[in-house]
Amino acid sequence: MKIKNNPSKTKPSDSSYKLNKISKNIRNRRSIYANQFVKGELPEPLLEEILINATWAPNHKMTEPWRFVVFRGKYLKKYGEYMAHYYKDFYSELSPEDQRDKLSYLENYPLNAACMIGVIMVRNTKIALPEWEEIAAVSSAVQNIALSCSAHKIGSYWSTKGVAIDYVAKFGLAENEKSLGLLYLGYYPEALKTLQKKENPTI
Ligand SMILES: Cc1cc2nc3c(=O)[nH]c(=O)nc-3n(C[C@H](O)[C@H](O)[C@H](O)COP(=O)(O)O)c2cc1C
Repeated sequence: MKIKNNPSKTKPSDSSYKLNKISKNIRNRRSIYANQFVKGELPEPLLEEILINATWAPNHKMTEPWRFVVFRGKYLKKYGEYMAHYYKDFYSELSPEDQRDKLSYLENYPLNAACMIGVIMVRNTKIALPEWEEIAAVSSAVQNIALSCSAHKIGSYWSTKGVAIDYVAKFGLAENEKSLGLLYLGYYPEALKTLQKKENPTI
């Protein structure tokens, strides 16, 4: 079955109006990458709202298997430096100039983010759920963050590269915890064309 990408048009008086707004928000959400961010402070109450929305995600047996760590301020710079160091050998075959460019790109990459959020899965030690259920719950929480961001015109994306996973882990994980990477949050220019949709979804 083919699905149309455009949310169906409903009048405000229509009882499904609210659903339509939700559909628009879901379908307009796009991953926005940190090199597209422009500097901007995330107000504290908004950050709090976003994180609280994360915790409203469905989760089996109410294990709430997540922990989030907010990185901002000097940690953006520290993460850039960490990435450059992490990838140092990866670029060792490039010319010194190209190598410098690549590493400088990495160093600067996170600097315009409003913040980054470390995503940690916390396995419940008393209720033995399959790991996939806990990952599914954390992913739902991450999607709540992404949708909250897009509703506020804040860009976000989830980075699950080894470097992101390792950076979060560096800050300490309990035995029942696992790093699932980093979410980048940041403002983006009004003119950014974010709505190119992927191929037509089919069921
Ligand atoms: C579990 C997960 C991991 C992801 N990891 C990365 C990543 O490491 N690097 C990256 O650039 N994008 C990552 N993404 C973002 C995807 O590339 C993006 O969602 C996909 O291209 C679809 O685009 P959209 O989010 O705009 O719909 C990840 C997304 C998910 C759901």
